[in-house]
Amino acid sequence: MRQRSVKNRDAIAADCSAWIADDPKAKRGSWRSAFADPSLPLHLEIGSGKGRFICEMARLHPDVNFIAVEGGKKINVRILQKAKDYNLSNLLVIMDYIVDARDFFAEGELDRIYLNFSDPWPKARNAKRRLTYREKLKAYEACAAPGAVLQFKTDNDGLFDYSLEEIRSRGLLLRWVTRDLHHSPYAEWNVETEYEQKFSARGKSINCLQAVLKKCNE
Ligand SMILES: C[S@@+](CC[C@H](N)C(=O)[O-])C[C@H]1O[C@@H](n2cnc3c(N)ncnc32)[C@H](O)[C@@H]1O
Repeated sequence: MRQRSVKNRDAIAADCSAWIADDPKAKRGSWRSAFADPSLPLHLEIGSGKGRFICEMARLHPDVNFIAVEGGKKINVRILQKAKDYNLSNLLVIMDYIVDARDFFAEGELDRIYLNFSDPWPKARNAKRRLTYREKLKAYEACAAPGAVLQFKTDNDGLFDYSLEEIRSRGLLLRWVTRDLHHSPYAEWNVETEYEQKFSARGKSINCLQAVLKKCNE
């Protein structure tokens, strides 16, 4: 993804440092205590882009703690700016790429994972980089609390089909699937991402699914 450079990136990061999760691997197993209210459930988004989705979610759901993960240096400061503008006390930002979720989160630590418009990595040789690749799913499962779900949405029909196969290969239960989120019953509570706004404005239908990462009785 090509991005325009952000002027004063370092100054913005310093100004919004309260929202940066410093040394995130060291927080493994103790993320809840990094938030103002450690009793709240913990939701993660991997690949937050400029942060529209995660910041809106944090604003709308003060009863949930959120972690945004974005490795793109030219855009992750945008998440910090929004978090500061909204004065969010329930959002932290990991300014890095996650390769294996288990490096950052302990067993059972996450109550929900969001993947929104993840990079498709279309070439077969790069399939392992897709955020819905079966080994990535295995890592999410390990970090999931009982009842935790994965929510994935994308404009990319091929990536969606691939992801459904990967989810089935892991034996995960699909709670629901829609090929047209904006004209589905789930549209009511949907919060749009920057990419979602761009693609739906062009008339592209949006795919979305929820899968159970860990059953309550496991
Ligand atoms: C196509 S953009 C979508 C951004 C946003 N979710 C949206 O829907 O507008 C994908 C983003 O995921 C980020 N990304 C990809 N893999 C990542 C990873 N493993 N960890 C953190 N960020 C990642 C990229 O840097 C990029 O900003």
